[in-house]
Amino acid sequence: MKTLTITRPDDMHLHVRNDALLQAVLPYTARQFARAIIMPNLKPPVITVAQALAYREEILSAVPEGCDFTPLMTLYLTAATPINEIKLAAENEHIHAFKLYPAGATTHSDAGVADIKAAYPLFAAMEQYGIPILLHGEVTDPECDIFDREKEFIERYLTGMVNNFPALKIVFEHATTQEAVDFVAAARENIAATITPQHLLYNRNAILAGGIRPHYYCLPVLKREQHRLALMKAAMSGNPKFFLGTDSAPHLTHLKENACGCAGCFSAPVALELYAEAFESANALDKLEAFASHFGADFYGLPRNSGSITLQKQSHTVPQFCGTTDISITPLKANETLAWQVNTSDE
Ligand code: NCD
Ligand code: ZN
Ligand code: ZN
Repeated sequence: MKTLTITRPDDMHLHVRNDALLQAVLPYTARQFARAIIMPNLKPPVITVAQALAYREEILSAVPEGCDFTPLMTLYLTAATPINEIKLAAENEHIHAFKLYPAGATTHSDAGVADIKAAYPLFAAMEQYGIPILLHGEVTDPECDIFDREKEFIERYLTGMVNNFPALKIVFEHATTQEAVDFVAAARENIAATITPQHLLYNRNAILAGGIRPHYYCLPVLKREQHRLALMKAAMSGNPKFFLGTDSAPHLTHLKENACGCAGCFSAPVALELYAEAFESANALDKLEAFASHFGADFYGLPRNSGSITLQKQSHTVPQFCGTTDISITPLKANETLAWQVNTSDE
């Protein structure tokens, strides 16, 4: 059987929620990934170091016996974040970044930043204390077409941030456009981007052609084929600025299959398999290990993982539902076939 063994990977953009949903979803990630950058968009958001450390303990309580998994915590930036909290976060070994949500841009972003330019003193502090900022890079202007919101964010805000804070490490999260990969590739070396499996595998037809398919709806929304191809090229280029971040974002099935469905694709149960499918489709499986296991750690200044994980070329069907009897979540590619399977008995 064809197999592929790589260093244990890291998921540099992950939503695991809290309470019962956390307990239901975390095991999927802990089986595949050694570490993950944990998004702080809970309700209420994780805005202080103390809250992040408490959330970290809650996540650790959900790690299955025998799994070695480390959550890499982040704080949710608000207009009222004190400079001292930025200093404390930068000094804390468990906290790795701040996350900026433009207010209203995505799930649980109401407490985010309404005026990005007014947050410049906060960016200056992050630059000074050496803690990265992670961006949900979309404008929230209701006049702006939803397919143009990422491109607009780059023009209106990202360019200014990069120019004004030359030592600030920035991750442009879940890049979805040609404009984003071009910008990041051309920018200085401390600007990087994560790329999700759904944006590598699908274009916007997946949501809208032949019926409306809410499980393919996430933010930033899937774009045209031209953009998918640009993302594929970036992910497989061997450029260390582009690394794995699934943006696995679980919502209960009935909240996705809804007149006003939530944004987010739940990819955690088959995350590596989805990336393997994308890389294999471009004959670039040899580029998967660096993208999944080296470049993210290098960017965050973390040691690369020891240990390995093996994927087997073994066709299997993705389950229709994941979770528990009370918590039903539909995974990405539910009921469809995947060519690769992670061998979870391997360490
Ligand atoms: C994410 C979520 O549900 O938390 N949803 C999504 O569509 N990506 C939020 C986010 O990452 O923007
Ligand atoms: Zn986002
Ligand atoms: Zn996200």
